[in-house]
Amino acid sequence: SAEPAPPYATSDKTSFAYISAKDRWPIIVTGAIDDIHRAIVACDDDAKRKEGKMILEGLAKLKYELQHDRQLTPLEDDGQPDIAGYNKQLEALSNPKWFSVPWLYSECYLYRRIATFFALSTHWRTYDVFSRQKLSTFKSSRPAVLELAAKYSALIAQLENDAYLTQSPEDLEKAERILFTEMCEICLWGNATDLSLLTSLTYEDIQKLQGSEARKKAEKNVLVNDLPAADEVLIKAKREGKSDRRLDIVLDNAGFELFVDLVLAGYLLAAGLATQIILHPKSIPWFVSDVLPADFAALMSALADPQTFYSAPDDPDTGKPPQPLSEKMEEDLYLLFRHWSELHAEGQLIIRPNVFWTSADSYWQMPKAEPRLYGDLKESELVIFKGDLNYRKLTADAMWETTTPFTTAIGPMGVGSGVRTLALRTCKADTVVSLPEGEDERLKAMEGGGGEDGSRKWAWSGKWAVVQFCDGKA
Ligand code: F6P
Ligand code: MG
Repeated sequence: SAEPAPPYATSDKTSFAYISAKDRWPIIVTGAIDDIHRAIVACDDDAKRKEGKMILEGLAKLKYELQHDRQLTPLEDDGQPDIAGYNKQLEALSNPKWFSVPWLYSECYLYRRIATFFALSTHWRTYDVFSRQKLSTFKSSRPAVLELAAKYSALIAQLENDAYLTQSPEDLEKAERILFTEMCEICLWGNATDLSLLTSLTYEDIQKLQGSEARKKAEKNVLVNDLPAADEVLIKAKREGKSDRRLDIVLDNAGFELFVDLVLAGYLLAAGLATQIILHPKSIPWFVSDVLPADFAALMSALADPQTFYSAPDDPDTGKPPQPLSEKMEEDLYLLFRHWSELHAEGQLIIRPNVFWTSADSYWQMPKAEPRLYGDLKESELVIFKGDLNYRKLTADAMWETTTPFTTAIGPMGVGSGVRTLALRTCKADTVVSLPEGEDERLKAMEGGGGEDGSRKWAWSGKWAVVQFCDGKA
């Protein structure tokens, strides 16, 4: 149909929208306040401190308005072209209050509003209020990072090994299928760890989610798995000898998730399943942990000198004394750095920001709102959308029946669009589509599934996932 179902709204007390507005967002804004406070205390420039206090006041006011269900006020013009769009939509919603507003709009507005405080300053313009959190959780995912780094260096060596390369084409494709699946699953579960959910998960929970043991256990939690169809596309393009085979990843979170995205990207390039990979980061601090270009740089510099990174005086939040890395660990991490920076330098791994990703628009609006980006994505063999928010934007964050086909729910990104879409998403919100008949009911009936109060609670925690594909070129 030409219109999506109505969107989830913060007024719906059985939805995660309501709980987000009531419980999660105040915690997130408080976290930002604490961060600025720390930065002000550590700052010895008077003018900067003064401005920092103004930002702090802005954040406190925002938190007050949210908690007292005030109206969302128009965004102050910070010189960026997306402000007009935000304010136009706000007007179209007739100046809603925090607890009666579409979820997607209000959550995007929250982060965009925070960004204006910094953009309007002179000393804090490039300050990322979530950076401290991103770095310290990346540090705490060290066991999984080391496990994957060892695996990656063995894998790259294997791909260059004669025995591997001289297999029959059939065996080679079989091996490629297995590896592709495994890499995508790593990449999928890497998304279970976004920081906007940290308000309900501990560091220990997160570490448990990241290792290979955990992934094996979680396989049965993938409710729909279209990976084979996506894989087929890449294998076919390679078999046909197409010389330019581009793949895109619309990134989600920094730290561990970005790390696993790069593992996937590096694998696909090394295996010749793609010849170029374009990464799409955000342009402003977004949903706490989303990737900014600076996060990419920070990750690379951590890998370039891992011993220093892991032995730097520890963040008081985690409190653990640093443990030196073994020589082998250092080598593995350094190999990743070398491999990825070579790919980057050779133009095979490209970072391409676009302000559209931090607008409040769902991807249903992309053809009209950002036709150039839409056209650009059509050039790709496959566009991988990572994470929950991308999935909400693909499906317009709408109250679809859970049996609605994915291709219907993504509207203009669907069949005939020219864009091939693969969503790798752990469920952290109410919208879920393409489930088999009866599946939602089965999950709701499980303990904590939400059946008792009519909510879809099972879909909020990141425990369940969907991998959904639509061949828009078909
Ligand atoms: O549903 C919880 C939530 O924080 C949403 O606000 C948001 O859609 C999502 O999770 C962020 O998760 P991700 O990083 O996977 O997009
Ligand atoms: Mg995110």
